Amino acid sequence: MQYTYAERVNYMANSAIRELLKIAEQPQVISFAGGLPAAELFPLSEIKESYAQVLGAGDPSVLQYGTTEGYLPLREEISAQMRAKGIQTEADNIFLTNGSQQGLDLITKLFINPGDVVLLQNPSYLGAIQTFRSYQANFDTIPTNEAGIDDLALELLIKQNPPKIIYLAPTYQNPTGTTLTLKERKAVLRIASKYGIPIIEDDPYGELRYDDEALPSIRSCSTDNEVIYLGTFSKTLAPGLRLGWIVAEKSLIAKLVVAKQGTDLHTSTLLQRATHYYLTHFNAVEHIKTIRQAYKFRRDYMLTELEENFSDQAIWTKPSGGMFIWLTLPERYDTVNLLPHALAGNVAFVPGAHFFTYNGKYSSMRLNFSNPAPQQIKQGIKLLSTIVAAY
Ligand SMILES: Cc1ncc(COP(=O)(O)O)c(C=O)c1O
Repeated sequence: MQYTYAERVNYMANSAIRELLKIAEQPQVISFAGGLPAAELFPLSEIKESYAQVLGAGDPSVLQYGTTEGYLPLREEISAQMRAKGIQTEADNIFLTNGSQQGLDLITKLFINPGDVVLLQNPSYLGAIQTFRSYQANFDTIPTNEAGIDDLALELLIKQNPPKIIYLAPTYQNPTGTTLTLKERKAVLRIASKYGIPIIEDDPYGELRYDDEALPSIRSCSTDNEVIYLGTFSKTLAPGLRLGWIVAEKSLIAKLVVAKQGTDLHTSTLLQRATHYYLTHFNAVEHIKTIRQAYKFRRDYMLTELEENFSDQAIWTKPSGGMFIWLTLPERYDTVNLLPHALAGNVAFVPGAHFFTYNGKYSSMRLNFSNPAPQQIKQGIKLLSTIVAAY
């Protein structure tokens, strides 16, 4: 049978990263491609114990349907964590999702009509771009100059072509690893407020901080619910759990409830109960410290290896947190074409072009340092430099 799909399907491209990860998953390939945490650091036994405890307590409601907003004690716990980060919130402002990717999808479903403009950083997280595209959004890019976000140009752009939403990952961004300064955060917030445009603040990496003090989230600087904040346990606990949350005002949460009901009714009851058990019985703060230490070491290791192998042929970001380094070769390189050569040589990266809505920077690539072991980082960067030199 020949299916006739909805028009929006034309805007749903296959995830380039997932297709590529299939090759990069082969054991001989050293992969800097995925956005994967280090699996050996997952708190496996604590999560096992959490599931055993909630299942063993004899309460069958752990397998029952639940409310769409999510399990109240877990929302209370997350709300307390958010308040500790300076975000004023109550449990009623927390909405649980299957990872922040679902949060992005639900928010886009609520806000974007075909042709509406999403204003975002170029480059931006590929998964967000794909979601916006699937709802037939158009894109505009946040203007920058040498000092960062150009607020005068931004205001002019918003005045001339008002976006429906602004999407930002301000802290240790995927793919570049860069962070918006407090001044930039406040400038975007001021302009968004003035023109009544909601900001989506996507913050999966904020806790993966290696050098500096945490900057306030944009949501914590806002006074009028302009900012819809997305959080997730994917990077601090484990991405396979699929658990994230949205911080938003109650009227928006009511709309999210209806949107999520049409998608999956609610997030897994058992998962929510087990995660609540984990958070209230084990030392999640200590666990995050352990990951920070390991990732800081891997970041430093990759930076040293880049210095040794790429100093005469590339520039790269030096992120203070997160999982990624953004490496840029001279303009004559096209990393989309370089990738098959790298894969043939058993090393993988994500070509930079995938993270742009248009006008891609084709000589850049995203390198993940959280997943490969230090020895693989050493070997992989050396391999990559040989491949680049021969290309
Ligand atoms: C910026 C950004 N937002 C959202 C996500 C999706 O995260 P989750 O696993 O919570 O759906 C990712 C995952 O890599 C990401 O990098």
